[in-house]
Amino acid sequence: ATQRLTADPEGIARAATLLRDGQLVAFPTETVYGLGGNALDDRAVAGIFEAKGRPSFNPLIVHLADLDAVKELVQWSDLADVAAQVFWPGPLTMVLPIRAGAKVSKLVSAGLDSLAVRMPASPVARTLLRECGCPVAAPSANRSGRISPTRAEHVLETLDGRIAAVLDGGPCDVGLESTILGLTGKPTLLRPGRVTAALLSEALGRPVMERRDRDQISAPGQLASHYAPNARVRLNASEWHEGEARLGFGRTEGDCDLNLSPAGDLVEAAANLFEYLHRLDSSGAEVIAVMPVPHVGLGVAINDRLSRAAAPRG
Ligand code: TXA
Ligand code: MG
Repeated sequence: ATQRLTADPEGIARAATLLRDGQLVAFPTETVYGLGGNALDDRAVAGIFEAKGRPSFNPLIVHLADLDAVKELVQWSDLADVAAQVFWPGPLTMVLPIRAGAKVSKLVSAGLDSLAVRMPASPVARTLLRECGCPVAAPSANRSGRISPTRAEHVLETLDGRIAAVLDGGPCDVGLESTILGLTGKPTLLRPGRVTAALLSEALGRPVMERRDRDQISAPGQLASHYAPNARVRLNASEWHEGEARLGFGRTEGDCDLNLSPAGDLVEAAANLFEYLHRLDSSGAEVIAVMPVPHVGLGVAINDRLSRAAAPRG
């Protein structure tokens, strides 16, 4: 069975030892829980794909404690430096050309000549990364295609018995996966998140292109159906139908089962999104109806995750 470790100094030290030894450990970040493995160890990285049931062509994000460690793996640039100064540590991942001779397992980048790197802000994640002393590859800690985990219990729902341990650091603050910025060519938003395209453009002093869904899939994880609960998801619900689970946003007409943010606050809604989808899904409803969320600011990332949860299943 999977050990549940408390995120105190002792638990973090234990998790660091397990990771260094090539075991799989789920750990909290400010975005979602990650399914971590030593990125230098082919067997550990292969184990991540196995535990997730993830198609192996889908590359992973490498998590690091400091800039020097990042620069050993990727070709750094002035733009990357600006983004790092403004947004790191934090919920931003950068995709950069991989450095020749970088020691990271080839499985991490799934054969691409670029690598996704991120320096998380969560104190537990930072302490863990410093203590284990190796780069940590980590996708979200859920079986492939399922709702992303924002609490240790969510991790155990789909990965219990498949990983050595989960480090329980309580609920994640942001609640949505990191923004992914592609910097192998013109700056491109590969996945929306808390750090919005507008914030990135302002910091970089140049436009950041937003990838359109019908374009070529350049972040392979951005397959249409993703984050799928068992229930079917009905978007932009303006009225409720009999028997549906009701997920509200802002002021509602009549009752809903859960409200992402009664005050209409997008930051609060993002933090609640995956937890509420988990809860409504485990209530056994066949359909989860979701009220419209405004498509501005962080609402773009929320709607991205919602439309994937609602997409036809393959
Ligand atoms: O917030 C997050 O980013 C979380 C936490 C654990 O850090 N991690 C996460 O990982 O969401 P994952 O594996 O669920 O999503 C990684 C995304 C995928 O869409 C993948 O295709 C993309 O990053 N990606 C990874 N390497 C890439 C690369 N070299 N080029 C383009 N996309 C890449
Ligand atoms: Mg994921």
